[in-house]
Amino acid sequence: MTQRKISPATLTHLLGRWPGRGAAYLNLARGIQQLILDGRLPLAAQLPSERALADALGLSRNTIKASYDVLRDDGFVQVRPGTRGVITLPPTASTPGVPLPPLTHPHLIDFAVAALPAPEGLIHQAFAHALTALPAYLPTHGYTPLGLPALREAVAARYAARGLPTSPDQIVVTFGAQHAFSLIVRTLTRPGDRVLVDQPTYPHALSTLRESACRVIPVALTPEGWDLPGFEAAARQTSPHLAYLIPDFHNPTGHLMPDGVRKQVMRVLRDTRSVIVIDETLAELALDVPPPVPFASHDRQAAVVSIGSMSKSFWGGLRLGWIRAPRDVAERLAAARSAMDLGTPVVEQLASAWLLQDPEQALQPRRDQLRQQRDVLATQLRDHFPEWTFRVPEGGLSLWVTLPQAVGPSVLAQAPRFGLRLTAGERFGQAGVFARQLRLPFARPADELQEGVSRLARLFRGGSAQETRAHTSQSAAHEDV
Ligand SMILES: Cc1ncc(COP(=O)(O)O)c(C=O)c1O
Repeated sequence: MTQRKISPATLTHLLGRWPGRGAAYLNLARGIQQLILDGRLPLAAQLPSERALADALGLSRNTIKASYDVLRDDGFVQVRPGTRGVITLPPTASTPGVPLPPLTHPHLIDFAVAALPAPEGLIHQAFAHALTALPAYLPTHGYTPLGLPALREAVAARYAARGLPTSPDQIVVTFGAQHAFSLIVRTLTRPGDRVLVDQPTYPHALSTLRESACRVIPVALTPEGWDLPGFEAAARQTSPHLAYLIPDFHNPTGHLMPDGVRKQVMRVLRDTRSVIVIDETLAELALDVPPPVPFASHDRQAAVVSIGSMSKSFWGGLRLGWIRAPRDVAERLAAARSAMDLGTPVVEQLASAWLLQDPEQALQPRRDQLRQQRDVLATQLRDHFPEWTFRVPEGGLSLWVTLPQAVGPSVLAQAPRFGLRLTAGERFGQAGVFARQLRLPFARPADELQEGVSRLARLFRGGSAQETRAHTSQSAAHEDV
């Protein structure tokens, strides 16, 4: 069974308080339309039958029919004779034509990248130690498809310190988390396989899945986080081959999955025999809560494949990450990688191994800085945009902001003229959804964030593009991460 169905109970729950003011059929249609645009109802899923929804909402069947007719006429539902309406999007709802602006403005404030600059001095020190250690490796050939033993040991020790005993031979070193995920997808899936993902989720993971011709099954997060009944229904209806989740300070929403939910998610995915891939790229950026224990520790028998990275904890420029997996899976991944590359550079691995010996010297100042920057961004947004809503996350790198209306392609296209680089919320989900959302990272210094929000205010209130002030942005990224 692969066709997802929205149950009347789920739709009633998502619609919340009901009915609103005005004609019931129109309110219902607008309510369902907003749920579709906010990514809460998955595209291609079947709506409940008219009769079942009428019973659940206590409305007449004619009202539901009128409502479904409006949705069909507006392009949000497709109806084929004899079948239930299937959720879709009108062609105009999507703004895929808005590319990321280039970095041409001299004082650009980059809200498209959620990554911190390198910690002061520490990366130099790490490379100095790496160069001291290097002579011992020069007599070897230097190819390390699984990774250098010294780094695999350091990564395994970090898992153990975080509450998950790990052996170095469970670790495969990669060029960052994104490379890790593409290696996993390339090795463990085939075209057409169903892959369950959070909605919203990390956009480059979606690109990997599209390129591998996997069928993406999005499961909507609620404003409070994971929706266990929705997750369980989607998993049982579709039996995904693989599930990709970001339980720790989720990108882009910042949610942290509670322990009880982790256990249940694990139980469901074991039942459906899915490969469980957990992206822990942001796990070390706990700002107000104790650091989460690794997901795999909730069920040590389950075959969890975890992804980790130096990028957010230390520096993205290291291009270093890893996979933690059962030994046989780790070996399979390392063997498969030769189609793409033959291992990670030795010096970067040695530098990373040194950094991981005492991670707190980088992490503690980073967390303090991020906490302060997060609070500045939240305060500035509340002052300038009281109508925008967001949750202040307990960790991570960004705020996921909901606007009263769609951001719109013209605002996104105008942003560079105001010295801003913005990522459309739509990049974090299926095309056309999250049109009223923006991910705003708090990865830049406080003064830059303040200036950035003033520019946002001018952009959204139709002010002059000429007033942008100079600031100290050093961003050199050309992609959003
Ligand atoms: C959830 C998530 N996964 C993976 C990545 C990619 O990380 P890396 O730089 O290690 O490739 C990012 C970067 O933003 C991320 O947020």
